[in-house]
Amino acid sequence: MAADNLKRRFHVVIPCAGSGSRVSIGLPKQYALLNGVPMVVHTLRVFQSVKGLAQSVLVVAPEDLVMGDVLRQWPQSEFFVSHTGGATRAQSVLAGLNALIDKGVGLDEWVLVHDAARCLLTPELVEKLLLACFEDPVGGLLALPLPDTLKEESHGRVGKTLDRSGKWLAQTPQMFRLGLLRQALVSAGQSVTDEASAIEHAGFSPLLVPSAAFNFKVTYAEDLQMAQAILSDRSRSTHSPT
Ligand code: CTP
Ligand code: MG
Repeated sequence: MAADNLKRRFHVVIPCAGSGSRVSIGLPKQYALLNGVPMVVHTLRVFQSVKGLAQSVLVVAPEDLVMGDVLRQWPQSEFFVSHTGGATRAQSVLAGLNALIDKGVGLDEWVLVHDAARCLLTPELVEKLLLACFEDPVGGLLALPLPDTLKEESHGRVGKTLDRSGKWLAQTPQMFRLGLLRQALVSAGQSVTDEASAIEHAGFSPLLVPSAAFNFKVTYAEDLQMAQAILSDRSRSTHSPT
């Protein structure tokens, strides 16, 4: 049983040091209120409800004054805040991994990196990723087979239609061992926009774990409305009499 528990242990890094410029609500988008609760709290509650969650980190910008207040109002026992966010997502994630190492987390432990703005993630999807990757030598990510026809642009018009078979949209969480991911991010540099790209750059092939369209990232203002609608619908179905 103890060995089983150890096998299930995982840590989470949530990069939160972006400015949310495309949503444009005057503060980073993870603080937008959805059903009266900040978006990031919805995200954290998902991980808090999954068995095996161990010490985890929220990486915010050095000047962020909001996250401390949020966690005082909505405490999340496994998460601590690190004011070490960088200029790129890759830098913020790397800072989060270093913060975990500073807390004594081992290089061979599993880390799930997840965008704060994917607040519609479910415990079931996290479980699916964990189950698929725990025994995997590399790790993997949630992803969605491309649903639409794919066009390549040429001067504002269709240049050509690309073959969509075998194309996937990368989501998060993305799950890798701390030491491998840290090394991969250091080598890949600033330009990678997800962890899997860094792992690929290091010569490995992450596992694709089929996800769901609802696990989208809130990027534009209309995504906020969609997230709000889905969360309201979920909370109605949780509270409706059976
Ligand atoms: N992120 C980060 N550090 C950065 C840039 C982004 O920690 N320097 C985080 C964001 O806070 C977010 C996640 O990475 O949780 C995904 O990035 P994105 O959706 O691009 O968020 P923002 O950068 O905040 O939004 P925008 O690009 O519209 O400004
Ligand atoms: Mg960004």
